[in-house]
Parts: sequence; structure tokens; C-alpha cells
Amino acid sequence: MSERTVSPAPGAPLDPDDDQDDREGPAHTILVVDDEPMTVSALRHHLRRQYTCLGATKASEAIDLLERHDVSIVICDERMPHMAGHQFLEKVSARWPHTSRILMTAYADLPALVRAVNHGQILGYLSKPWHPDELDTVIRKAVAVQDIIRDKQRVQADLERANDDLRRVVGKLRDFTHAVAHDLQEPLRTISAYASILQDDVGPGLEAEPRQFLAGISRCSEHLRSLIDDLLQFSEIERLPLRHVPVGLDDVVLQARRLLDGVLTAGDAEIHVHGPLPAVHGDPGRLVVLFQNLMSNGLKFNRSRPRRVDVHPETAGHGRVAITVRDNGIGIAPEHHDRVFQIFHRLHTKSEYPGTGAGLAIARQVAEVHGGSLTLSSAVGQGTTFRVELAVGGGAVSDRPSLSGVSR
Ligand SMILES: Nc1ncnc2c1ncn2[C@@H]1O[C@H](COP(=O)(O)OP(=O)(O)O)[C@@H](O)[C@H]1O
Ligand SMILES: [Mg+2]
Repeated sequence: MSERTVSPAPGAPLDPDDDQDDREGPAHTILVVDDEPMTVSALRHHLRRQYTCLGATKASEAIDLLERHDVSIVICDERMPHMAGHQFLEKVSARWPHTSRILMTAYADLPALVRAVNHGQILGYLSKPWHPDELDTVIRKAVAVQDIIRDKQRVQADLERANDDLRRVVGKLRDFTHAVAHDLQEPLRTISAYASILQDDVGPGLEAEPRQFLAGISRCSEHLRSLIDDLLQFSEIERLPLRHVPVGLDDVVLQARRLLDGVLTAGDAEIHVHGPLPAVHGDPGRLVVLFQNLMSNGLKFNRSRPRRVDVHPETAGHGRVAITVRDNGIGIAPEHHDRVFQIFHRLHTKSEYPGTGAGLAIARQVAEVHGGSLTLSSAVGQGTTFRVELAVGGGAVSDRPSLSGVSR
């Protein structure tokens, strides 16, 4: 008997879709497609010990098997009556791109083989009539590729699961934060009210020191109220539904600027908007909060005269818009560029610059729920430029909390 064979071994099943289909065990399922039942049987017989091996004599039958089974390797003959093998593998490659595909060809089919290789439709080829060693080598290569693909898919799935878990935990933490902040409001209001009654009623008759203590209680409860308000605002950005309406950023920046009128009329402070700014879909109220935070920071952390903030449209990738908010302020050292976005992270004392440290965490979260991002570039003494990117169509309205504002 010749070394090359297309004959089935004695006793090999001729039925192209026999009992092996549902067999448990081997990690990889191989599908053999050839219009000659004898070839299908011979290949299946050779492979059946190590792999689950299916067979089909028509393209339609093969597609049906691919739909019903988790096939990882497809071996197909080039010469089939209704569809050439490389055309069939092209279809398989489009629908089941993770499969490894092998074309069986006689040497006369070289052009088809070259085309299939160059179009990435096949991983290898098997000359016909096939030799068992050659078959084993080609299959081993395909199995190695499939093992890598499966490992990658497993790692990806693990990563997605871990990310989902993390998002769930962050969501719960945010709900918890919101509940705590909410419940702290009431007792704090009572403390503030008693402190102010005491200041009014008995304050004037007190010695200097107890009077200072009372003033201290009022000051601290006022600060605590700001922290709690910011915490509530931060936790609500993702808890409450996002509006999704067309909104011009010119209007947004104008409104944010109006909220800073008090600072601007106090003198030595300027905001220049270099419009026109683009439009997006989103939540106008939250976008105003975003730009107000950036512009107020630009004027607050600033010792230049005049203090100046410039707002510019910038180029951005497809489906996105970008705006920069640049100031001539004190700047931020590179080691703090990430940390300033964490909630309540401040680089200065309250007496140097007032604030709670929540503004940038809130601003970044607003950008993220709009499918965008907020980044900065800065150096000490060189001013700071914030870059806001937003998706033109707005963010995907989602119940998946982002991780912004959480220490990373
Ligand atoms: N434009 C800026 N220039 C310099 N430092 C800034 C600027 N914006 C933010 N920072 C720094 O980042 C910290 C966090 O900012 P933010 O979250 O807005 O809090 P807040 O304004 O309440 O301090 C600020 O305390 C400040 O140290
Ligand atoms: Mg701020």
C-alpha cells in the first residue's frame, strides 16, 4: 500500500456525521469537508482518537454543523462540485473568524491556495492525497493556534468579569456614600442651628475664648456642609438619569461664566471664550458644572495679574469634540496630575485657597458619563490646561458606574 492514502481504514464509518458529534472529552472539534465520503471517513478515522471529528460532504451540511457545534478547526477540499474550498473557507472565516482553516489541494490548485493564504483565509494546507505525518503536523499547528486563542478568550472573559465585579462594588460604594451623606445632613443642620442661636443669644456676653469656640463650631459645620453637598453631588452624577438633549457648548460655557460673575466683577480676572464651540448631545446642567469647575479653578489657583482663563475648541478624533480650558495660574507639579482628580484631594490648605477638593472629581465624572474624558497638562508656574473630550452623540446611558474619582 502506498504511503499516501485517501482510503478509509477497514471499519471506518462512512456516515459523515456519525456518533462522535456529541462526544465529551477532546478539547478541539475538527470538521472535515469533502464531497468524497471516503476521504471524509479516512480523515475522521485518523483523527478520532485525539479529537472530536465531524464530517460533511456538502457546504450546506458543513455550515449546519458549524452552527450547532463549537468547531475550532476546519479542513476543506478545494475541489467540490458546488463551491470551491477556498470560497467556502472565506465564508467560514467571515462568520467564525476564530476557527483555524486548512485547505486540502492537489498541486494543480496552486493559484487557489496562494489566494487563500494571502487573504488570511487559511492557516495551512494539506496536499492531496494526504500523508498521515503531514496531516498530524498541520493539525498540531492549528491546535497550538487554537490553544492560544482560547487562552486569550479565557483571560479576556476573566478580565471582563473582574471589571463587572469592580463596577458593582463601586456602584454599591456610591450608593452607600450617598446614603451616609444624605443622613448626615439633618444632624448637621441641627448643630449649625444651635451654634447660630448660641452665637446670637449668649455670644455677646461670653469671654473671647468661648466666643471663638462657638465661631469655630459654626465655621466647621459650614465646611462640613460643603463637603457633604459635594459628596451628594458626586454620588448623584451616576445615580440619577442623564439628560440626553442637543446642547451647544457655547451656551454651556456662557452659563458657567455667568455663575462666576462675582469673581469677574471683583477685578483682575478675565475669561476669554474663543468660539464657536461645537455642539454635543448631553445633559446641559451637568456640562455647566463641568466647565464652571474648570474655569473657577483657573481663576482661584492663580496669582498672575490679570488672572486669565482661555477656552478654545480643539481637534479631536472621529465622533468626538475637544475643548481646552487654559489658565495662567500657579500650575500643578507632574506628580499630582493624576491625584487632583481624586475626590477631596487638595494640594493646598483651606486658608491658602478655599475649597473642598471635589470639583475635579465631579468634572471628570461628568465628562465620562458623556462618553468622554478630562485630562490636564501643567507645570508649576506655567499655568494649567485642562482638555475636555466629549462624544458628539453623548455617552451611552448606562447603569454601569465608572471608576472616576476612586483612588487608582
Ligand atoms: N487650575 C488649577 N491650577 C492649579 N491647581 C489646580 C487647578 N485646578 C485644580 N488644582 C489643584 O487640584 C486640587 C483639586 O481641585 P478641585 O477638585 O477643583 O478642588 P478645590 O477647587 O475645591 O480645591 C485643588 O485643590 C488644587 O490644588
Ligand atoms: Mg475646584
